[in-house]
Amino acid sequence: MKKVTTHTIRKMKEKGEKITMLTAYDYPTAKIMDEKNVDMLLVGDSLGMVILGYEDTTKVTVDDIVHHTRAVSRGAKRAMVVADMPFLSYHLGVETSVKNAGRLLQEGNAGAVKLEGGSEVVDSVRAIVNAGIPVVGHLGLTPQSINTMGGYFIQGKKVDEAERMLEDAKLLQEAGAFSLVLECVPTELAEYVSKNIDIPVIGIGSGNKCDGQVLVFHDFTGYNTGFIPKFVKKYGNVGDEIGRCVSEYIEEVKDGSFPSAEYSFFSEDLSELNKLY
Ligand code: KIV
Ligand code: NA
Repeated sequence: MKKVTTHTIRKMKEKGEKITMLTAYDYPTAKIMDEKNVDMLLVGDSLGMVILGYEDTTKVTVDDIVHHTRAVSRGAKRAMVVADMPFLSYHLGVETSVKNAGRLLQEGNAGAVKLEGGSEVVDSVRAIVNAGIPVVGHLGLTPQSINTMGGYFIQGKKVDEAERMLEDAKLLQEAGAFSLVLECVPTELAEYVSKNIDIPVIGIGSGNKCDGQVLVFHDFTGYNTGFIPKFVKKYGNVGDEIGRCVSEYIEEVKDGSFPSAEYSFFSEDLSELNKLY
């Protein structure tokens, strides 16, 4: 099976073929998604919230991402694995940025890294790409900036903000990013950016005019039984299903109906054992 590469992703935009991306954080999920031919698997720093139970993504470390990326990459035979660079791992100079991105490739087996921001991170993007590591940009709502943004709001609703976002997108493209995630921007702006840059734009909460889409595993499957953003379509109720399994298990253990003979082992030699006492 042919592995999805940066070349594949760029070609898909040229051909007008939509790119599918989903987050995955472990081997079995990655395997299922890969077998369904998802194009890209994102080991997002959203894992801090949906896997580790943190309030936001700022507590996630490079070690956390490496750990999960190793698992996901084992399950990805075809899909490209993109690993998020976590908070502060690309803000302390280009050398540490390259070093941390390199760890995600060497130790995590990622095929690319993703980092948040525009003009303020282009030096890091250029250095990482120059080291031979493919980079995905991320503009619009950038959750690592939650403390300076003051909340999770739609970004780029005014013309001047929209123009600034396109400028940032162009800077990322010039620095060598091969695609760009746009989070929580109006559909008009996502279309404007997608049409005015050559690299594919992958949207989340940004309408259907982008070159591709991404969603968070726990949100779109309904595994996450807490707050789910408005832009997420719930394709299932995995959380409810897990809850049902747990309730039935508890009930059957309590009343002794599990494990029945069907799920037990017996030995003829021991058939008298409990009669001896
Ligand atoms: O961490 C993440 O899951 C992401 C996606 C929302 C794009 O960055
Ligand atoms: Na992220």
